[in-house]
Amino acid sequence: MYTKDIYIQRRAELKRRVGEGLILLFGNNDAPNNYPSNTYRFRQDSCFLYYFGQKREGLVGVIDIDNDQEYFFGDDIDIDDIIWYGYVPSVKELAEEVGVTQSAPMKALKTMIDAAKAKGQTIHFVPQCRHDLMIQLADLMGIHPLQSKEKASVKLIKAIVDMRAVKQPEEIVELKAAAEIGYNMHTTAMKLCAPGVTEKYIAGVIEGIAMSVGDRYAFQTILSMHGEIQHGFPSHTPMEAGRLMLCDAGAESKENYCSDNTRVTPISGKFTQQQRDIYQAVEAAHDWVIANAKPNVKWLDMHLGACRILTDHLKSIGLMKGDTDEAVRVGAHALFMPHGVGHMMGLDVHDMEGLGQNYVGFDEEVQPSTQFGLNCLRCGRRLQKGFVMTDEPGIYFIPHLIDLWKSQNMHKDFINYEPIEPFRNFGGVRLEDDIIITDAGCQIIGDKIIPYHIDDVEAYISKD
Ligand code: GLY
Ligand code: MN
Repeated sequence: MYTKDIYIQRRAELKRRVGEGLILLFGNNDAPNNYPSNTYRFRQDSCFLYYFGQKREGLVGVIDIDNDQEYFFGDDIDIDDIIWYGYVPSVKELAEEVGVTQSAPMKALKTMIDAAKAKGQTIHFVPQCRHDLMIQLADLMGIHPLQSKEKASVKLIKAIVDMRAVKQPEEIVELKAAAEIGYNMHTTAMKLCAPGVTEKYIAGVIEGIAMSVGDRYAFQTILSMHGEIQHGFPSHTPMEAGRLMLCDAGAESKENYCSDNTRVTPISGKFTQQQRDIYQAVEAAHDWVIANAKPNVKWLDMHLGACRILTDHLKSIGLMKGDTDEAVRVGAHALFMPHGVGHMMGLDVHDMEGLGQNYVGFDEEVQPSTQFGLNCLRCGRRLQKGFVMTDEPGIYFIPHLIDLWKSQNMHKDFINYEPIEPFRNFGGVRLEDDIIITDAGCQIIGDKIIPYHIDDVEAYISKD
């Protein structure tokens, strides 16, 4: 946790931006896994963490802007809890630690909200993604549990997005810590990668690194010889010589800031020529984004620029044809790259996605697209200093998608379907690093960059 001044200052800024009413921010509750007392590992809600810092379950923070008061609602633990889980400070003590002066049991929250509604105060809340909180909100507000998104406060969402999108120095320290853990996870995976070793074994080892030195892994590790499956989770299948292992994994630092990297390792230790051709295209697109991302450029243009580079490379090896700009304009390249070039990252690996992608990544100037591929771009708007983005272009050979497009003669002026056949079992290549936008450009976060240039990868994995 940071010092209390940071949370006091963040809440003061939020109050200033929202201006009037009462802000309701839910902390998370414990969530049962397979029976009530066997819970998923607790993870605090990211907005609650940002403004209130405390990681205990079962808390709600209220900022009454109109009356200039702040509250923690929650129930103190009893002796039974202490026997099983140890002593936890009281709600009052937790509140005081982060500069919140008032606290009350959870049942008092309903009384406060009813009184606020009776006085005509605006009650601001954000969309909820957890069902228990949807029900808790529904109970307080008298809305249907599924209405938390449509009834949420746009003013509050926009204020939070504006604050959380621009990372402050204390946040960058944590992002660097997460990057360091990510470096250890990925370099370990690269070293363990060999024929006969299972995907699950490697994923388990690197998730163990995240769990043992950070707070946890940032998302379920994607680790597969089937890199063409965007979120391909590890199986017990032993790795096969000649194929590629795609590993997309990240850590959360002790304060829950994330890292998110992807590397691709040749299981035999050396890339084949076919693998080099595809890898080099992705590497060029990845590096182009790093060379061009800076304040005031649109992230949409970073995406489209990366797609043009991929298209040029795919043309040079005969898989695409025609005018590059036109191919990208109509979305022909999306056969090979059906996702966006990157997303915001911070306390959430897809930062603030739960608040609504249109508020996070788009604005009046840059609107989301419905075109296949581009519809997965999670951010398009102009970059600002302090934004943290992932840079993650890729090329994938997805047999079902190839067959579908081929059967429909889709984008036949830009795609050569016959030469794609030898790539049917290729898998996929994605390279991902996390960048922070600086005064004039951007930097990869972290002191050590996980090897990704082809020669560096081969040299790294061959070293004892
Ligand atoms: N690293 C997983 C994702 O960005 O979806
Ligand atoms: Mn990512």
